[in-house]
Amino acid sequence: MLMKILLGSGLLLPTFAQHVIDLTGNDWTVKNAEGNVSAPASLPSQVHLDLFAAGAIHTLAQMKSIFGGSPGLTGHIPVRQSRACIIDGASSSWLVFNGLDTFATIELCNQTVGTANNQFRQWKFDVSHALKSCKGHPVISISFSSAPKIANAIANEPGQETWPAGVQGVFEFENRWFIRKEQSDFGWDWGPAFSPTGPWQPAYLVQFKPDNGVYVLNTDIDIHREGQVNWLPPDQSKPWVVNASIDYLGTLPKGVSLTVEIKDSQNKTTIASGSLTNLTISGNSISGITTVGGDVPKLWWPTNMGEQNLYYITINVVDGSNKTLATVTKRTGFRTIVLNQTNITDAQIALGIAPGANWHFEINGHEFYAKGSNFIPPDAFWPRVTEDRMKRLFDSIVKGNQNMLRVWASGAYLPEFIYDIADEKGVLLWSEFEFSDALYPVNQAFLDNVVEEVTYNVRRVNHHPSLALWSGGNELESLELQEVYQNDPAEYPRYVGEYEKLFISLIFPLVYDNSRSISYTPTSTGNGYTKIDFSLPVPMVERYQNVTPGEYYGDSDYYNYISAEAFDMSHYPVDRFANEFGFHSMPSLQTWRQAVSDEDLIFNSSVILHRNHHYPPGGLSTDTTRSAAGMGEMTIAVELYYPIPLKLDPIVNFSAWCLATQRFQADMYKSEIQFYRRGSGRPERQLGSLYWQLEDIWQAPTWAGIEYGGRWKVLHYVAKNIYDPVIVAPYWDSSTGDLNVTVTSDLWESVSGIVNMTWYDFKGKPLEKNAGVPSSVAFDVGPLNITDVLTTNIKNLSIPTLKDAVLVLSLSATGRLPNSNTKAQFSHENYFTPVFMNEAQLVDPELKLSYNKSTGKFTVEATNGVSLYTWLDYPAGIVGYFDKNSFVLVPGHPKEVGFTVQEGSLTEKVVKEITVQSIWDQAKKD
Ligand SMILES: *[C@@H]1O[C@H](CO)[C@@H](O)[C@H](O)[C@H]1NC(C)=O
Ligand SMILES: *[C@@H]1O[C@H](CO)[C@@H](O)[C@H](O)[C@H]1NC(C)=O
Ligand SMILES: *[C@@H]1O[C@H](CO)[C@@H](O)[C@H](O)[C@H]1NC(C)=O
Ligand SMILES: *[C@@H]1O[C@H](CO)[C@@H](O)[C@H](O)[C@H]1NC(C)=O
Ligand SMILES: *[C@@H]1O[C@H](CO)[C@@H](O)[C@H](O)[C@H]1NC(C)=O
Ligand SMILES: *[C@@H]1O[C@H](CO)[C@@H](O)[C@H](O)[C@H]1NC(C)=O
Ligand SMILES: *[C@@H]1O[C@H](CO)[C@@H](O)[C@H](O)[C@H]1NC(C)=O
Repeated sequence: MLMKILLGSGLLLPTFAQHVIDLTGNDWTVKNAEGNVSAPASLPSQVHLDLFAAGAIHTLAQMKSIFGGSPGLTGHIPVRQSRACIIDGASSSWLVFNGLDTFATIELCNQTVGTANNQFRQWKFDVSHALKSCKGHPVISISFSSAPKIANAIANEPGQETWPAGVQGVFEFENRWFIRKEQSDFGWDWGPAFSPTGPWQPAYLVQFKPDNGVYVLNTDIDIHREGQVNWLPPDQSKPWVVNASIDYLGTLPKGVSLTVEIKDSQNKTTIASGSLTNLTISGNSISGITTVGGDVPKLWWPTNMGEQNLYYITINVVDGSNKTLATVTKRTGFRTIVLNQTNITDAQIALGIAPGANWHFEINGHEFYAKGSNFIPPDAFWPRVTEDRMKRLFDSIVKGNQNMLRVWASGAYLPEFIYDIADEKGVLLWSEFEFSDALYPVNQAFLDNVVEEVTYNVRRVNHHPSLALWSGGNELESLELQEVYQNDPAEYPRYVGEYEKLFISLIFPLVYDNSRSISYTPTSTGNGYTKIDFSLPVPMVERYQNVTPGEYYGDSDYYNYISAEAFDMSHYPVDRFANEFGFHSMPSLQTWRQAVSDEDLIFNSSVILHRNHHYPPGGLSTDTTRSAAGMGEMTIAVELYYPIPLKLDPIVNFSAWCLATQRFQADMYKSEIQFYRRGSGRPERQLGSLYWQLEDIWQAPTWAGIEYGGRWKVLHYVAKNIYDPVIVAPYWDSSTGDLNVTVTSDLWESVSGIVNMTWYDFKGKPLEKNAGVPSSVAFDVGPLNITDVLTTNIKNLSIPTLKDAVLVLSLSATGRLPNSNTKAQFSHENYFTPVFMNEAQLVDPELKLSYNKSTGKFTVEATNGVSLYTWLDYPAGIVGYFDKNSFVLVPGHPKEVGFTVQEGSLTEKVVKEITVQSIWDQAKKD
């Protein structure tokens, strides 16, 4: 052996002409700059986590007080991480860090070997010289500096870029736009500002024998149809082109080649093998291509549209004597996904579609309705995000009938394992570069840094079939440039120019240099482009506000905290796609109790005001005036529409209020989602709704549908219901009394069935002659289309007391899911009341709950009246979800409900603690 590695704990990976020491482990030490605080540490990790684990952040209470809103601690302590290792001899040696968060100086043997300034890049440092001249045992140390301090220092450099007042979104720490670090680490309106720091991704010491050796740094596997252009729907009859590219460290010998083998996910059938052709070596990358017959691989489809067929692709780097120098295997899939933004054609206009441009996704050549939500960082500290946690989350996503997430633009690029889970579950990930709610500098150093970040991440994740889109950032055109226009119109052209320089002239061609398979849009929420031409200095011509009334072009982002307008459809945006919308709510009592003690569980306690960041303080202030305004919005909404919880026991009252805010939130999202989905059959040809936001980063009032820890809020259940493939929904205009009942289907074939409509009073007695409404209507609805089953006006119905009436809607239909050979039954339930709940003459439904041990199912029954918002709740200590929740029960029609356990188990004790209540309990004074 040429190299002697005396280090016991360094894991030796299977290698070729190089030795790789995995630096992952818990044998690091963290110290502060003064050296008076020292604790054991891990890699990967972040310093907060190490200090917490070591008890240096002493108590949970102290951690809580930080989580409680004090901006303190974070990122202010410069730290050193070190780890002893002993290495002996090698021709060249490299340190490879897959991620350093963020400002780091790396030393080996007391010599600085490199610095890092971007959380999202992979860093490699040549340490050959430092190792050779090492005296004594080599020690790697990484010194991190405070990101907030550096951001401020950059902002204060002479001549540094500035923006008009009011444009840059400040949450807690300022100046995040000057640095390439997770932007929400500096605070956001749903999370804390810890500004974590540390080696958050694995790291390796790579050493080569003399002459040659290849270490794989990154790969880019791009699978597209022959002739495919990123932004246009490809010809589905063409063969597949597989373009594989490996970024390596080391030296390639003469006569090197690449071989490929593609096998199915069981490794049983080989669909392609041999050498890659069109070999190119450029910089530190080697690339080649092969083609695969157009109908040879089975296609990958999103959930509910077909199977998630996956393939393993193995690329070998082989030398002239057929010796393998490096090998890499990635799991991938064959599919095309395009964001179609072409102009509406005459043929589409003839179908009733309004002119303008398309803005929808096509999977394997098929339009589909995108249903889902927005993904934010699932934890303030990424090293705590485990595969198990993410599997549970994606299980909830798929169970919630969601097929697409927008991976929002100011967290971090997702690790491979999350894309892997999404590939398996069939969840499309619209992925964004990390730029949001600010304008960004365009000096050369900043742009150069972005080039590395974009190139690395586009290449790293390109092979995942779940990757759906790259977007430059969030709310840049719709919010940021608009703010400039309003606050400083004279400067508008300058900032548009800078925006285009970064997001169009720089990033757009960079994405397409590394991928032929993924579309790019410079911003989420915009009016799309009118032209793409790479001979222009700005190769995409954006439409901006050059719009024609009556035409639709792009995607929408809509928030309205005036709850009086929450259910008024005339306020909802009409566009081709809704990528953000929502309203915040409180998490459950069980989730609050993970973090807050009972004495602080009062709706507007100071702890809760500190945790609520809507509205954010706008700096490092601990003033909660703006938070109180956001809390007030929830209160006002509950008081406007629902019975006001008034319970004697303060905790019971608190819990009832939490649930009440969730009911409003869910009602509002449902109203919007059914409106957007109805748009699929209207002139706007609306083909997607992704609500804000999927999950939580911590325990706080936010827009999330899934709480920190995994518990579903009312929203996630209601979204599951309204994202069913074939739905029936009421559309009511309270000012005119117009009431329509409409069926919407996102299946790809016609579907027929029956909608039953029954009017009851709250005692559960059917209204005479069904109030003049037919009790059932047969329907036939076309693919991705709608049909009305009732168009009437509430004034034309014979309802004795509007306050004592509820219309129960139930649909049953037979059709086929996309790509399925068998017929399936579809059902859906919904309801309508002509008054809001605070006016309704509710009666106690006298709910009964029982559990059948042999079937493992619960039965819920209303014995004395109609139960609305029927809510099953499970205790702390386990995590899971009911098949359905927040539903309607009519006397004589019990419902059987299953419970899926995600964590823990459904013991007898847990079963006993499961409760059921309805909106009547919210009204009950006790
Ligand atoms: C690094 O420097 C310290 C003191 O500055 C010294 O004790 C140590 O031996 C040096 N280590 C190496 C590997 O050169
Ligand atoms: C874009 O989508 C529309 C509607 O599905 C379709 O008619 C049109 O052909 C698509 N554009 C291209 C270039 O295929
Ligand atoms: C197929 O091979 C890949 C790569 O070697 C491996 O990760 C995977 O587990 C294998 N799958 C099965 C089902 O054996
Ligand atoms: C590969 O090389 C052949 C022969 O030089 C050429 O005709 C073909 O266009 C190349 N393919 C690609 C994808 O560049
Ligand atoms: C190269 O080696 C592989 C197995 O390692 C073998 O299947 C192949 O036939 C060899 N090719 C040549 C040209 O020797
Ligand atoms: C699409 O329509 C816009 C007007 O909204 C026009 O400027 C553009 O040239 C059209 N694009 C094509 C490819 O026809
Ligand atoms: C009901 O449907 C009619 C006919 O399509 C339409 O004109 C009206 O706007 C709809 N009203 C509501 C409240 O959806």
